[in-house]
Amino acid sequence: MFIKIRISHVIFVEILTGLFFLTNTNAPGGSMTVLRHLFSPVRIGRITAKNRLLMSAMSINFGVDENNYVTDQLTGYLAARAQGGAGMILVGGAGVHPTGLELPGLPALWEDGCIAPMKKMVRAIKPYDVCFGVQLMHGGRQSYHDRKVAPSPIPALAVVKGVPRELSMAEIGELVASFGDAARRCRDAGFDFVEVHGAHGYLINQFLSPNANHRQDRYGGSFENRIRFFLEVLDNIKTRAGADFPVGLRINGDDYVEGGWTLDDALRLAPILEKNGADYLHVSGGVYGSKQLSIPSMYVEHGCFVYLAEAVKQVVRIPVVGVGRIKNPEMADRILREGRVDVVAMGRALIADPMLPEKARSGNLNAIRPCIGCCLGCIHQVLALEPGSCVVNPDVGREYMMADKETTAVSKRVLVVGAGPAGLAAARVATIRGHHVTVVEEKGCVGGLLLLAARAPGRGEIMDMIHFLARELERLKVGVRLNTKLDQTLLDELNPQAVILASGSLPEMPIIKGLFTVKMDLCTVTEVLDGKIIGDRVIVLGGGQAGLVAADFLAEQGKVVVVLNRKRHFAEEMSSNDRYYLRERLNRDSVRLYKQVAVQRFTDDGVIFTFAGKPLTLERFDTVVVAESMSAVRDAKPMLDRRHVELYVIGDAKSPRHLMPALSEAEETGRAL
Ligand SMILES: Cc1cc2nc3c(=O)[nH]c(=O)nc-3n(C[C@H](O)[C@H](O)[C@H](O)COP(=O)(O)O)c2cc1C
Ligand code: SF4
Repeated sequence: MFIKIRISHVIFVEILTGLFFLTNTNAPGGSMTVLRHLFSPVRIGRITAKNRLLMSAMSINFGVDENNYVTDQLTGYLAARAQGGAGMILVGGAGVHPTGLELPGLPALWEDGCIAPMKKMVRAIKPYDVCFGVQLMHGGRQSYHDRKVAPSPIPALAVVKGVPRELSMAEIGELVASFGDAARRCRDAGFDFVEVHGAHGYLINQFLSPNANHRQDRYGGSFENRIRFFLEVLDNIKTRAGADFPVGLRINGDDYVEGGWTLDDALRLAPILEKNGADYLHVSGGVYGSKQLSIPSMYVEHGCFVYLAEAVKQVVRIPVVGVGRIKNPEMADRILREGRVDVVAMGRALIADPMLPEKARSGNLNAIRPCIGCCLGCIHQVLALEPGSCVVNPDVGREYMMADKETTAVSKRVLVVGAGPAGLAAARVATIRGHHVTVVEEKGCVGGLLLLAARAPGRGEIMDMIHFLARELERLKVGVRLNTKLDQTLLDELNPQAVILASGSLPEMPIIKGLFTVKMDLCTVTEVLDGKIIGDRVIVLGGGQAGLVAADFLAEQGKVVVVLNRKRHFAEEMSSNDRYYLRERLNRDSVRLYKQVAVQRFTDDGVIFTFAGKPLTLERFDTVVVAESMSAVRDAKPMLDRRHVELYVIGDAKSPRHLMPALSEAEETGRAL
């Protein structure tokens, strides 16, 4: 798999011939590609953006004060993205009215008091030559609080609970004006444009969609009535903020909901919006609880909503923006070159790496830190009303205090034990800080358990992060010694001043009656993902992420799989968006999932357990795969303790957990040295 180059007894991993081809991912390709189409200017109304990359609006749920006015934290987050070179950037989901604040930590635009802090933000962003806008939003029934209003008293399909109050005619008028006033405040603060959120199941989309709007007055019923609110909002913005103030509109090309808004509806609406003064259309899809989610996870193809924008582009002349799992700048350029859309929006790719545009522009594609589509740090956190973050980029939200963090410290000899994600991430940051780092790894390749996790169907994208870290270590010329177990001789040779122990974890065998005497094949989830040949009828013990992805892996091979989950919920450690697609995949005849089971004992060829208060027996199985819990591996610790070296235990070696805390801890450790 790898070509190993020996230089002074140190083995460097040769990325291009080894790791890079481990999985078929969508990682960016070779360097020095000229992305002519992406980096050509585009005119939006009276403004011109320097390139065709729009950072889409993302409600990040941090960076506002007690009045929901923007703070330096949000400015720092956005300034990092502006510095990164996107042509257009949107402040995500700002509330136009107190009843429409989607999440507690979003900017408020309903009082003039918001203008001064926004002016300060605009001043900080403007030097980066970016078109800076705000997305105007009313959450309607999809707002987190209990003062929800909507066209009709129909609860959201998922995520938030509670029946919204039906809007009166007077209130509809007030909300129309609140969009106009909010746009005027944005203009006064110095923003270049606004985008109105008419997609994703929020208030405007609720008016549009027949399944959410059951009104019988002039705002409901016919197509003309359902679009009225949107048109009045647009008109009011033009009146209050000025006819020449650029206004983009975000619409769904498809709600992906039975009885909801469809592409045909979007194609009918788009020319009307153009005629009424829209300066661009941004076409997305999905609502809370739809079949295709607005923020899809790694299971969904890249560029998933572009076909909707492409269709809309055929019926209008204003610029049309396409979106959906676009993270590869070469792909973005191709979409533009093929004339499918006029502007490409990226969301999570720019959370993961704010510098993506500049790296792409300068042909440095390999340096891009890739979003892996896990949805865990970003949308999962914010919908849990926590500040948004990112699994692969722990600096999100901390940009405003990071300015001097990457400077060189007193240089130390640092040994990292283990080349899983935590070890690699710690080695990277420690090297950037100026330390001399060596990594030792017992196995013949880097990546740790993620190598196995990425083998399950639809999960190969996880490897993009490992590829990135491995490329970084190569760039930084970090010595990585593969197939090397740390012993006293090596420790004496390296003589480190600090050691980071990142030796990972291994699956644990639970003690359950009969488990160790079964006549079935007994193995662990890691063995299965590593390719161990097993029988056709499999019991998977454990309904966490590992158990479910293993079940999917086995079902794909045509096996009959039963998953026994002793916990209350399946795969709680996954983001709900990611889990949704995995659960859909497992929805097949050959897979049975049981949760909240009490396993009584294993038999020679099966298991007896209680489910929903009733005893059940499974027979004629040939394999048990244990996927319940992991145990930290710290074999080298006693030796390191004896040496009294500065020691940090991180990642799964500290306590087996998900990637997000492990990577965050790794970077912190690299910085703390
Ligand atoms: C944390 C988070 C918050 C989001 N908030 C908004 C929002 O306020 N308004 C909006 O139109 N879209 C929002 N989105 C959707 C994104 O703008 C984008 O359409 C979606 O993430 C798909 O693009 P991507 O695959 O490039 O991330 C959000 C996405 C994320 C990840
Ligand atoms: S948390 Fe996951 S999906 Fe969200 S931006 Fe980061 S890597 Fe991408």
